[in-house]
Amino acid sequence: MEHFSVMKQECIENLNIKNDGIYIDATLGRAGHASEILKKIPNGLLVCFDLDQEAINKSDEILKNFGSNFKIIHSNYSDMQYQLQQLGITHVDGILMDLGVSSPQFDDASRGFSYRYDSRLDMRMDTTQTLDAHYVVNHYEYDQLMKLFFEYGEEKFSKQIAKNIIKTRAIQPINTTLELVNVIKQSLPEKVLRSKGHPAKKVFQAIRIEVNKELENLEIAIRAALKLLSKNGRLCVITFHSLEDKIVKRIFKECSTSKKVNPKLPMLTEESVKFKIINKKVIVASEQEIQENNRSHSAKLRVIERVEDEKESENRY
Ligand SMILES: C[S@@+](CC[C@H](N)C(=O)[O-])C[C@H]1O[C@@H](n2cnc3c(N)ncnc32)[C@H](O)[C@@H]1O
Repeated sequence: MEHFSVMKQECIENLNIKNDGIYIDATLGRAGHASEILKKIPNGLLVCFDLDQEAINKSDEILKNFGSNFKIIHSNYSDMQYQLQQLGITHVDGILMDLGVSSPQFDDASRGFSYRYDSRLDMRMDTTQTLDAHYVVNHYEYDQLMKLFFEYGEEKFSKQIAKNIIKTRAIQPINTTLELVNVIKQSLPEKVLRSKGHPAKKVFQAIRIEVNKELENLEIAIRAALKLLSKNGRLCVITFHSLEDKIVKRIFKECSTSKKVNPKLPMLTEESVKFKIINKKVIVASEQEIQENNRSHSAKLRVIERVEDEKESENRY
């Protein structure tokens, strides 16, 4: 399936693009957002990241239609600061992060992201890494699985599902997505099975987050992105579930709120604020976009801008 870029217009507007600026697309995907950025920076540079080599190969072809002033790096976005240093870049004018899995990744049955197709349990965004969903499902202890499903999937029946996984794999390994779906279904009450939404959705989300260490990497990447922004540079982040959004909201709030430095010294009570949140209310997709692309219904866009030079705030971000 084709990938529809979520809130493309909103992202481009919020990035405040300068035609000679340096921009980062931390989640290249199928280059939907990246193409729009590249069109607007004939005298600038676009640096893109993705963990997925297939996404990189496809996007390289797409981006060539809009210019040659781009670089694609096969790396985790949590490493963006180091990777940019290697290119001699210390500051950028804008960064976009459009989190999660792309439609082509979901729809490629062999990647094992979807509970709708039968395939070996995998869910790795980077197919060169060793940890995969098969390992998590077949080797994690009961407590680890239960915690995972509860915390990353917000699954109420995490105990029953973890217990059934342990019981099933004691007889033979759980090898495929549909075998796992069956174990999940056997663990849920009839009422839940009849309710809206796929019964395996939460557990699949939890395993995917664990396999790709999504929340840890997000936290590291946002902090790195904030350090990289030049004055007036903006970071735009699109999240797709509450665990991601909570992280973005917390860090944005933390770095845009002044802190008391020393309450005993009246003249030096507040550290100056280095960042300004651009949208107090989270930006969501329009009704029309949600109708055209159901995936956008859970998307939330948050934007923050650096308002003070980096040198003045070196110690904090
Ligand atoms: C939702 S898609 C991005 C779609 C893109 N904005 C577009 O319009 O085509 C997310 C992409 O980010 C990549 N990705 C996810 N986590 C990543 C990480 N930690 N580092 C680098 N890339 C990552 C995925 O492989 C996927 O291709």
